[in-house]
Amino acid sequence: MQDIHFSYQHALSADTVRSYAARIAQCQSMLEQGTGEGNDFLGWINLPADIRPQLADIQATAEQLRRDCDIIVCIGIGGSYLGAKAVIEALQSSFVQLEGGKPQIVYAGQNIGEDYLYELMTLLRDKRFGIICISKSGTTTEPALAFRLLKTQLEEQVGKADAQKRIVCITDARKGALRTLATQEGYKTFVIEDNIGGRFSVLSPVGLLPIACAGFDIQALVDGAARMMQVCSSATRIEENPAAQYAAVRNELYQKEGKKVELLANFHPKMHYMSEWWKQLYGESEGKDGKGIFPASVDFTTDLHSMGQYVQDGQRILMETVISILTPDHELRFPHDEANLDGLNFLSGKRIDEVNKMAELGTMFAHVDGGVPNMKIEVPALNEYYLGELIYFFERACGISGYLLEVNPFNQPGVEAYKKNMFALLGKPGYEKEGEAIRARKA
Ligand code: PA5
Repeated sequence: MQDIHFSYQHALSADTVRSYAARIAQCQSMLEQGTGEGNDFLGWINLPADIRPQLADIQATAEQLRRDCDIIVCIGIGGSYLGAKAVIEALQSSFVQLEGGKPQIVYAGQNIGEDYLYELMTLLRDKRFGIICISKSGTTTEPALAFRLLKTQLEEQVGKADAQKRIVCITDARKGALRTLATQEGYKTFVIEDNIGGRFSVLSPVGLLPIACAGFDIQALVDGAARMMQVCSSATRIEENPAAQYAAVRNELYQKEGKKVELLANFHPKMHYMSEWWKQLYGESEGKDGKGIFPASVDFTTDLHSMGQYVQDGQRILMETVISILTPDHELRFPHDEANLDGLNFLSGKRIDEVNKMAELGTMFAHVDGGVPNMKIEVPALNEYYLGELIYFFERACGISGYLLEVNPFNQPGVEAYKKNMFALLGKPGYEKEGEAIRARKA
């Protein structure tokens, strides 16, 4: 079976990448031996193997929710929802909500938009719905707020006993308000292990339960990840190791060529949320100590008509990584038209994907010529197995890359700053002093 394939000939020379071999070996050893900073958060490294004993329970829980619910609300923010959403959107029909298949997966707790929550609750009125509430800390405001609203609504609609059967919580084994609440209410729970950070948790129950609820094959996803775990390990030399190469190329471009921004580009709108997940993975892992490549994303060809000008011609601070899906799921050919009033008969009989691929190739050469180095990740097809490969490839490269940059890739101290201010402004007990200080600044 083919694997995903990483190439970088339009970004850097093979010799430069090879020159990273010794440093990459050190980073790999820090990851595998747990000798680097953040070594208490390395549970994701062997997750494709370690998660296997839980797959049957996750699948059975998903099947029960699928039987009992027409809508499943997945509550979580950041690493507690992006991975699941990325995989589900990549695999499901672009029009799933209009097609009416059941159950539909919707999301909450990823914002504090009053209209969003009001509209969601209106939609759920009198519907058979269930809730998966995901929060590692069990104390994050956005999901906690959404959970209280939706749990109350569900209990009002079906009664406490039936609501209990339709709620699953995924949280810490012991700590946090969500653990206390789930235990007291008797909800089914899964544990997020202490050594797995949110953005590295998609291959744990955090990602796998919602993905299984959407009807996708979590075994195949984990198999693909397990394959990349082998391919990207320290046992594979840099010439054959895609994660090592990706980490080397992006660091060289950042440190030596001033490429401060990496654009992840796709040519299939279904990959939009994969880019959102990737942005969190790299942004939260590398953006610290005044360092880090800024991760940004574009959906092509759509954004060629908006961001394309900047990419081609703006500040030369960009590198670009293209995710290329080699074979789409469906075949659609362009029809011939005798009148040819639109002048498009030169495309007659061609697959739509052929047009898309020429856009992809043409864009790459244009951007390279314009001073934007290009990397490419070829994904043979959009299925669970290759998405599993892609996820593990990005995670592994992120760990290596963070260590190359000499930051701790596994903490996120910066995320706390806004929370402290928000709690102070809202008058949360314990934040009185900060409240006074911030109100003084406002005045
Ligand atoms: O990657 C992370 O650690 C964060 O993005 C968290 O996933 C996010 O802040 C949500 O945290 P929690 O799962 O504790 O509610």
